[in-house]
Amino acid sequence: MNTNRPVALVDDGELLDDVLKLAAAAGCQVERLPDATAVRQHWNTAPLLILDASGVRECVELRLPRRGSVLVVTATQPSEELWRDAVAVGARHVVELPGGEEWLVSALADAAEAPAGSSGRVLSVLGGRGGAGASVFAASVGLTVLRNGDGALLIDCDPLGGGLDLVLGAETEQGLRWPELRLRAGRVSASSLHSALPGRTHGNGRLTLLSGAREGVGPEPDAVAAVLEAGSRAGETVICDLSREFGDAARAALERSDLAVIVVPAEVRACVSAKLVADRVREHGITARLVVRGPAPGGLRAGEVANVVGIPLLTSMRPEPALARSLDQGNFRPKPRGPLAGAARATLKALAAVPARDLRAAS
Ligand SMILES: Nc1ncnc2c1ncn2[C@@H]1O[C@H](COP(=O)(O)OP(=O)(O)O)[C@@H](O)[C@H]1O
Ligand SMILES: [Mg+2]
Repeated sequence: MNTNRPVALVDDGELLDDVLKLAAAAGCQVERLPDATAVRQHWNTAPLLILDASGVRECVELRLPRRGSVLVVTATQPSEELWRDAVAVGARHVVELPGGEEWLVSALADAAEAPAGSSGRVLSVLGGRGGAGASVFAASVGLTVLRNGDGALLIDCDPLGGGLDLVLGAETEQGLRWPELRLRAGRVSASSLHSALPGRTHGNGRLTLLSGAREGVGPEPDAVAAVLEAGSRAGETVICDLSREFGDAARAALERSDLAVIVVPAEVRACVSAKLVADRVREHGITARLVVRGPAPGGLRAGEVANVVGIPLLTSMRPEPALARSLDQGNFRPKPRGPLAGAARATLKALAAVPARDLRAAS
C-alpha cells in the first residue's frame, strides 16, 4: 500500500461521492483536498490526482506544471475548455462517469497497489540478427530481477518467436498466453495480470510472463501498451522481447521503453544487420545500447562491434556454458556467476541510470 495516497479535488458533491465509492470498490483510499493550494503540496508526490472541471481550472489558474497521473472526471460530455485545462496540467484522460467507471476503478486499483515511489522501468531487447540470443537475454534479465527479490514482467512481443514460455521451460504451466488475453477498457491492473498469467516467485520476488503461443494471434499494439503500463505503474521492471520485424506491437513497446538493448553475436555479418536494427531503434528516439555475445570466431572485439553498429557498448559476455542443452531440457537458469547473469546485472544497472520516461503520464 502507498503511504502516499491519491488525492482528489472534486467540488461537485455527487461526482465526489461517485469517485469515493469507486475508490472504496478498488480498495484505494483517496484523500479529499479543499482547494488547489492544498493540491500544490501534493503535486510532486501524489501517485494519482483526480480533478473535476472546477478543480482542474483552479490548478491551471495556480499555474501548476504538467505532471503524469492526473485524471479528470466529469459527469457530462467534456467541453473543449475542459480538455484544454486537462492537457495544461498533463492529464491524458477525461473520464466520463458513469460510463468510465470500470476504467476508473482499474486506475484506482493500480494506484492502491503501486509501491510509493517511481514507476518501473521498461527495457526492450532486440536481436542484431536472427538467433542472436535476444529471447534468452530477455529471460535472463527477468530471472535476475526475480533473484534480486523484485518484480518483473516479461512480455513476449515476437509473434513468430514460438513462445517465450519455451525459453523458461514454462510451456506446460497454466495461465493465459497472448491469444487468450482479452483486455477490456484498454486498461488492465497488475494484480489481474499476476493472477491470470504464469509466473514464478522467489522470496519477495515475482516474475510474471506474458508469452505468445504456438497458434493464434500475436499481441495487438494497444494490448502491449496496456500490459506494459500496468507493470510499470506497479513498480515492476518490464522487459519486452521484440521481434526484429518492427511490427506494430514491437513499436508500441519500443515507444514506451526507457532503454533498448540490442544483442549482437561478435560476427561481421551480425554487426552489419545489427546496424540496420540500431538505425530503426534510433528513429524512435530511445536510448540504445549494445550487448555483444561471444564467441568471436574471427577475433572481433566488442569495441569494434560497437563501432560498426554505431551505438555504445553496454557489456559483452562469453557464451553461456551448456545453454543449448538446458534450453532443450526446459530447465534454463542463468548461472548466478555466469556470463548471462553478469550481463543482465549490468543491463539492470544501466536501465536504472537512464532518465525515466514519464509512463505515468499515459494513465
Ligand atoms: N548467451 C548465449 N550463449 C550461448 N548461446 C546462446 C546465448 N544466447 C543464445 N544462444 C543460442 O542461440 C539460440 C537462439 O537464441 P534466442 O534467444 O532464441 O535468439 P533470438 O531471440 O535473438 O532469435 C539459443 O537457442 C542458443 O542456442
Ligand atoms: Mg527471440
